[in-house]
Amino acid sequence: MDSKDRLSPYSILRYKIENELDNLDIDDTKKLELIKQIPSRWEKLGDMVLIPENSLNSEIWNEVLLISNKNIWKIFCDVLGVSKIGRQNRIKLGPMRKSQVELLYGEDGIVIHKENGIIFEFDTTRVMFSSGNVSERIRMSKFDCSDEIVLDLYAGIGYYTLPLLVHANTKFLHACELNSDSIHELKKNLNHNGVLDKCIIHEGNNISILSNPNILGGIDRVMLGLLPSSKKGWNLAIQALNPKGGMLHLHGNSIAKEEKKWAEEVIAELEKISEDSNRHFKFKLEHIEKVKSYAPKINHIVLDISVST
Ligand SMILES: C[S@@+](CC[C@H](N)C(=O)[O-])C[C@H]1O[C@@H](n2cnc3c(N)ncnc32)[C@H](O)[C@@H]1O
Repeated sequence: MDSKDRLSPYSILRYKIENELDNLDIDDTKKLELIKQIPSRWEKLGDMVLIPENSLNSEIWNEVLLISNKNIWKIFCDVLGVSKIGRQNRIKLGPMRKSQVELLYGEDGIVIHKENGIIFEFDTTRVMFSSGNVSERIRMSKFDCSDEIVLDLYAGIGYYTLPLLVHANTKFLHACELNSDSIHELKKNLNHNGVLDKCIIHEGNNISILSNPNILGGIDRVMLGLLPSSKKGWNLAIQALNPKGGMLHLHGNSIAKEEKKWAEEVIAELEKISEDSNRHFKFKLEHIEKVKSYAPKINHIVLDISVST
């Protein structure tokens, strides 16, 4: 094996981009500035690489990209083995958590991303996909839900719906989703993964489940996967559970190292909702899962809470 074979993708990328900058006659001072912005990490989704928000994004990089006639992006594709490049901007604030990926190279932002034996097809420029939640998607796939009716209050393109149907063998799943782009992808993904017949999509605001007799009081497990808080879904989850209770997977953001305190506050609130609505459930914290860091000193947490009478 010669020494070139042992170079990291970043080193190869940097070497080839430096060559391209030489071809474009960029002077050495500018070149040093430009090289600093070559990313050393990126996110790969299917056939696409997403570079971080602050990469290749300065005024001088914009000038170079203009004169390089897409050669810089072709180098990225060649070295990283993809055909599309995008820039990962922060996910939009708001309940739909819309993607703000900017397409930099390629025909469109549509990818077919395979993870844990599941096919996720989606348009990266329209809907979000959090690579950082992979551990939680895998964790959900390890439950045994073969006798269970599950409600996913925030289904998106099937982030947790698909692992629960494909690997956890969920008997039947009700998926609520508000965003028409996500609904479109969810339908495709249920089909790609052969689980269309085990799922109903409830289009629109999940509050509509309060008037759905097929859901109210008939659910064994509820997914509450919305950040920064799933609080608006807590009452819905409690009303949906069957009279014996069941299990909640409740997502939220907690101050780092104060997760236990946050969990106690959540449970106190759930108890209040349950008493006020005459359901009289008992809630027990089974597990606290740290999914990822959401912001400095703020963690994305999932609480597994069992509910009984
Ligand atoms: C983007 S997902 C978050 C998924 C997961 N936590 C993750 O980060 O991978 C949340 C989804 O809930 C949907 N949503 C938010 N509020 C809703 C509501 N009231 N009813 C139905 N869907 C809702 C959004 O449109 C979005 O697709």
